[in-house]
Amino acid sequence: MNMQELIKTAKTLVSGHKGLLAMDESNPTCNKRFAAAGIPQTEKFRRSYRELIITTPGLGECISGLILYDETIRQQKKDGTSFVKAITDAGIIPGIKVDAGAKDMAGHLGEKITEGLDGLRDRLREYFQIGARFAKWRAVIAIGNGIPSRGCIEANAHALARYAALCQETGFVPIVEPEVLMDGDHSLEQCFEVTEEVLRTVFSQLYKQRVILEGMILKPNMVLPGLACSKQESVDEVADVTVECLLRAVPAAIPGIAFLSGGQSGELASARLNAMNVRFKSRLPWELAFSFARAIQQPALEIWHGEESNILPAQQALYHRASCNRAARHGEYSAAMEKS
Ligand code: 13P
Repeated sequence: MNMQELIKTAKTLVSGHKGLLAMDESNPTCNKRFAAAGIPQTEKFRRSYRELIITTPGLGECISGLILYDETIRQQKKDGTSFVKAITDAGIIPGIKVDAGAKDMAGHLGEKITEGLDGLRDRLREYFQIGARFAKWRAVIAIGNGIPSRGCIEANAHALARYAALCQETGFVPIVEPEVLMDGDHSLEQCFEVTEEVLRTVFSQLYKQRVILEGMILKPNMVLPGLACSKQESVDEVADVTVECLLRAVPAAIPGIAFLSGGQSGELASARLNAMNVRFKSRLPWELAFSFARAIQQPALEIWHGEESNILPAQQALYHRASCNRAARHGEYSAAMEKS
């Protein structure tokens, strides 16, 4: 393990006002999004869509790292260039999702545990050979009647920490993603409480598993009211409580925090990230960045619709969302950007 190299990669991922673009949907998830957009759910269409993303002109101005899926990291462009080479040539670091998905947790009705630790060291070694330099593992925490349980939070935090330690051993920067879901009618306060407990537990486990904080990135949810909650706080209120929660629970040693979007609209995700940077940037120990999938990809996916002739406008839409989020990283995003 070359720790200096890891720390450099982690810093690069959150520097220059850039952020990450997650395009690591598993085949079932990608097919679900394709079905909703009326796109055929085949390997051919998944490959074409991912080629559209990685060949978007100027993407490297806004995106520091692209998160791929096992199928995608082995694919090539139509001209035969491997995706990994195309990404690297665009000045972007290739990453890989290595968890095997969130499965029902035994004895814990309504809760999930993320699988994928068995054989992980060997899989990481192979992905390193292919060219990936950072990895992602997503844990899912739901808020509901009597949940999350302590058992679910601890099991997921432990798995995240074991994954992160294996990543660093094999030369990968771990993206540690404990996602508290937006589904439900819970309040902003409930999300705050659960997110704080989850983050404290995750960092306690990362410490026990000897993960070097300087060589990792945290990918948390923003603190938000449930989608079905009748009270939806303002952009500034969300920014304030999210930063308050992170300041309590996240050590200053990590280089950056890259939020997931979790089902927020692209505009809201940009506005909330922007508000955090406007109101707090000069006082924070870490960079506040993004690692969005839906909040960057969704308009492009809908415009593309599986048609070759729509590639250019789809790429323009993708670049637009990526550049809005780059602006949000230095507090220069505004609703006017959406009209230009
Ligand atoms: P969303 O931004 O769509 O929530 O996806 C981020 C991600 O990578 C989930 O693991």
